[in-house]
Amino acid sequence: MDNLVVLADGQAAPANTSEPPRRPKWSDTLQYIANPEKFCRDNLAEYGPIFKTSVFGGTTVFVGSAPANKMAFNGDNSYTKIGLPATTMEMFGEHSLFQRPDLHRDRKSALRPGFTGRMLANYMPHMDQVLNEHLQTWQTEQPVSLMKMIEEVSFDLLAPLLLGIRLDQGDSALAGLPIATKAELKQQYKTFFDGFYGLVKWNSPLTTFGRGKRARAKLMAFMEAVIAQRRQSGLAATPDFLSMMLMAQQDNPEGVFNDELVANQCLLQLWASYYEVSGLLASWMYQLGEQPEVIKQLRTEQAQVLGDDPTATLPTMEQLKQLTFLEATIKETLRILPPSSTATRTLTKSVLLDDMLFKHGWNIIAEPRIAHAIPEHFSNPNAYNPKRFLPEQGEGRAYEFIPFGGGVHACLGAQMAMVSNKLFAIHLLHKLDWQLLGKADFVQFPLRKIKGNYQIQLRSKSQVPAS
Ligand code: HEM
Repeated sequence: MDNLVVLADGQAAPANTSEPPRRPKWSDTLQYIANPEKFCRDNLAEYGPIFKTSVFGGTTVFVGSAPANKMAFNGDNSYTKIGLPATTMEMFGEHSLFQRPDLHRDRKSALRPGFTGRMLANYMPHMDQVLNEHLQTWQTEQPVSLMKMIEEVSFDLLAPLLLGIRLDQGDSALAGLPIATKAELKQQYKTFFDGFYGLVKWNSPLTTFGRGKRARAKLMAFMEAVIAQRRQSGLAATPDFLSMMLMAQQDNPEGVFNDELVANQCLLQLWASYYEVSGLLASWMYQLGEQPEVIKQLRTEQAQVLGDDPTATLPTMEQLKQLTFLEATIKETLRILPPSSTATRTLTKSVLLDDMLFKHGWNIIAEPRIAHAIPEHFSNPNAYNPKRFLPEQGEGRAYEFIPFGGGVHACLGAQMAMVSNKLFAIHLLHKLDWQLLGKADFVQFPLRKIKGNYQIQLRSKSQVPAS
């Protein structure tokens, strides 16, 4: 990082430095939570891609330019620490990637084999089966809730791979476990998720945080029982994230993995993926509902790469890679409707970036809603134009396109999210047409998603020529 200077403790900033513009306002947190999109857009227009706020207390600088994103993403163990609220950190648990920055690199390297292309190829038969089964039952007579359908399919897609449980045989596969039904598992998971965003760190059944902690304890007990079952049934038999970790533990008992970390990681990876992937799939489908021409092009590409019945056989990873226009539409959804903000960090030292001073103790949030709206990063940023991501146009460079964060804490599941969306798209485009019923409202915080009451009309696909 050429223009970044980390100041020593007590070292004064040179005289010619400036601070980021804008005075923090008392109403910033409320305005950001109510509508992060508007908050970012309005301030970007008035102050540019770096500005000061009081979001979540203290001074919080929002950044979106590539050098500032890079600065925010790469300060671990040097000039930043994770700046998430105490409730969130406690819900993560001590074995997460956000605790113990000294162990982050080792833990992340140990988890990475669960998300490589080879591992994803192992996950694909399960994913394909779930998508096929779900989409065949999607109701075409009546309007349906888009988000409800997507959340159902996403849970069944991801939970077996990340928690190591079967869901395709009804509740019988959960018999004997501390959570005995899928409905309860989903409910506990929702309570756990909500606990991350509890405002008060008071461990009581009366608080969102307290209820989240209780759900967490229950889910941990559940995972310990799943681990015991898996050891009995044989680790190699099921190619999933759980087996990957347990086999690594068996090979190196002194390594990163102990049972508590394994259980915690299963819960956290589902946490990291379920809501984000659901938000992405629903937004992608919604956005395409307004783009019949793009849908046509996607079907043409699909036929070229996968033939007239693209669901007849399981695609290979190589074929998924060849669906470049599909990938571009997914990226355009992530650009315009990113599910979440990224790096929330606190500065442990003052730094100068291009002569702008960021002070020790300030928080930084790198915001895709800013980075993705800057004309230096994306030409005509307000237009929907997936082609911008095709290799010829080459937009979406590192630190400019940041739906998955970047740098040290870059998302471990980005490829898994892409594969999930691509397989979903293959089944959806082949089986169904869909029509939007008006404009959708979005829940904006903590993750962006279409509201549950928004409905669309599905129809069995009319014959679309494959040329
Ligand atoms: C649309 C889907 C997804 C989006 C938009 C997304 C977004 C993000 C973002 C923005 C970060 C960076 C957070 C930070 O720097 O503070 C992140 C980190 C992470 N994500 Fe994702 N994610 C998605 C799917 C997944 C999936 C499918 C998994 C795994 C199954 C996953 C696992 C992780 C993990 C483990 C980290 C932390 C990495 C670290 O601390 O080094 N994510 N994700």
